[in-house]
Amino acid sequence: MSHNGHPASTPRTSWKQPRLLHFRLPSLFKSHTSSSTSSFAAADRAASTASGSEAAPTPDAASISSAVPLTYPHTEKELPLAIQIQNLQGSDGAIHEDYSEAHKLFRDHAGHAPKGVLPQTINPDEETVPGIVHPGSTGVIYCSDRAMANGFNYANSHDWANLGQGAPEVGEIPNAPPRPTSIDMPTDSLEYAPTTGVKDLRTAVADLYNHTYRVGKESQYTFENVCIVPGGRAGLSRVAAVVGDVYTSYQIPDYTAYDQVLSAFRRLVPVPTALDPENHYRFDIKQAEKDIRTQGIAVIIASNPRNPTGQVIKDKELSDLVELAREGTTVVLDEFYSWYVYPDGDEEEDYGKSISSAAYVDDVDTDPVVIIDGLTKNWRLPGWRICWVIGPKNLISALSQSGSFLDGGANHPMQLAAIALVQPEYVAVAKVALQKHFKMKRDHVLKRLHELGLEVDCPPTSTFYIWLNLAKLPAPLNNGLTFFEELLKEQTIVIPGIFFDINPSHRRNLFHSPCHHFVRLSFGPPLADLDKGLDAMERVLRKVRKEGLRNFGHSYKPSLTSPIDLTSLSHA
Ligand SMILES: Cc1ncc(COP(=O)(O)O)c(C=O)c1O
Repeated sequence: MSHNGHPASTPRTSWKQPRLLHFRLPSLFKSHTSSSTSSFAAADRAASTASGSEAAPTPDAASISSAVPLTYPHTEKELPLAIQIQNLQGSDGAIHEDYSEAHKLFRDHAGHAPKGVLPQTINPDEETVPGIVHPGSTGVIYCSDRAMANGFNYANSHDWANLGQGAPEVGEIPNAPPRPTSIDMPTDSLEYAPTTGVKDLRTAVADLYNHTYRVGKESQYTFENVCIVPGGRAGLSRVAAVVGDVYTSYQIPDYTAYDQVLSAFRRLVPVPTALDPENHYRFDIKQAEKDIRTQGIAVIIASNPRNPTGQVIKDKELSDLVELAREGTTVVLDEFYSWYVYPDGDEEEDYGKSISSAAYVDDVDTDPVVIIDGLTKNWRLPGWRICWVIGPKNLISALSQSGSFLDGGANHPMQLAAIALVQPEYVAVAKVALQKHFKMKRDHVLKRLHELGLEVDCPPTSTFYIWLNLAKLPAPLNNGLTFFEELLKEQTIVIPGIFFDINPSHRRNLFHSPCHHFVRLSFGPPLADLDKGLDAMERVLRKVRKEGLRNFGHSYKPSLTSPIDLTSLSHA
């Protein structure tokens, strides 16, 4: 234990703790402050907590809270200490992830040690299986593991608020068609289904897209343009498996699985581009054109609407993107949130519209536009694992091949049951109900965040995610990983932003990630769960006001080492 009662941090096995901060802090503080003794002491202590140092004095809570008028929202003037600490995390690099307990926990997890920069931490378990390289835990698994370490388990999951949940609520919602409760299982359905899917479902999906997006267009989708796949990630993997030896571009932040799925297929070369927060994370078509010319990008992949920012490419921008495809670049659009687009107005006629690139395709067999969607989000049936890829016939035939060695096709009885759910009449009712209900939840969460002083820079116009910037909170709460750990203590799960960065393990200092200050909040769960999570945030912020920052940023539970049951947490 350290002198201040915090557990001494676990020594790193792979490199030495930097001790730089002890020497640099005082001079830094002199240059930033008007020499308030309590601020100095508090900041010094904050640094000592983070570094595990024995050197700095410990101020009492009262001295911190009197030095830090923690009202939210706050201005720079109101939060001198917070600003001072944030300054320390600035470009001079004086504060590093090594001083953060939450980041140490992350680095200690298998596969997350910095790669190619510092010696890799060896996990003895991995070495017992010759030739196996641990891919590193995905965001979902890491967050689940940390939740378990904090007492989450299957039996008590209802006591927790899971705002990390990347799935919509699956129960009844007002005015939606009733939830399916049983399925038929004719004897034929006990056979394998074709790897491209059951023909009647493929036809029904093609008809739905023609009905929704292609009325009056000469070129229409047929079953040959549709491949049924066992889930969205299976669709992505099937596509990635048939991408050749080419540069494939994706953007940050985006759905976490792209990084892992793309890197699993070693022929293609993933090329990330960072989206600009100043520009509301907009997809920059001019930049894409330039990248195609200068870097030879052959394939672009993006979620649209976008997870985690809740922004959407639509109208002319979407039509320009499809045009870009026609000029010779394959554009793969993951349209899983295509119904989760919220109208500005609240009249009946404002609801029921969805967004798909299918509306801008000229020729369904020659425009290289690939759409992935399915029952997971729009139909609120993530457990069914029935999804589809839509594109030119030749692509579908290639996907049939990759499906035959990757996944063997989607569940046969569920495909048959899905046919009734993709009928236009069913969809029309389900879509309106979904948009009304989720818009209500979005507005509710945004209002409560505003009341807590947590302003959302970029409110979501689509999806069920809020990309929340914590930069204005006092350190260490202003980074996603620490905020996540603090909420776990309050039985609430959110997803730290760094999981939406490309391969964060490759960064020398996670504090430099563009997603460092962010968390993703999901308003997928039912309203009562959302309130439970927001209440937890309120408690954390109240505690800061009352006790200052001394109780934050440390004393986290060690990760579990035994195999853990992840079945009760849903996907990110
Ligand atoms: C953008 C996006 N695409 C695909 C998926 C995964 O879909 P599935 O659960 O069907 O694999 C998700 C799930 O979170 C997602 O957010």
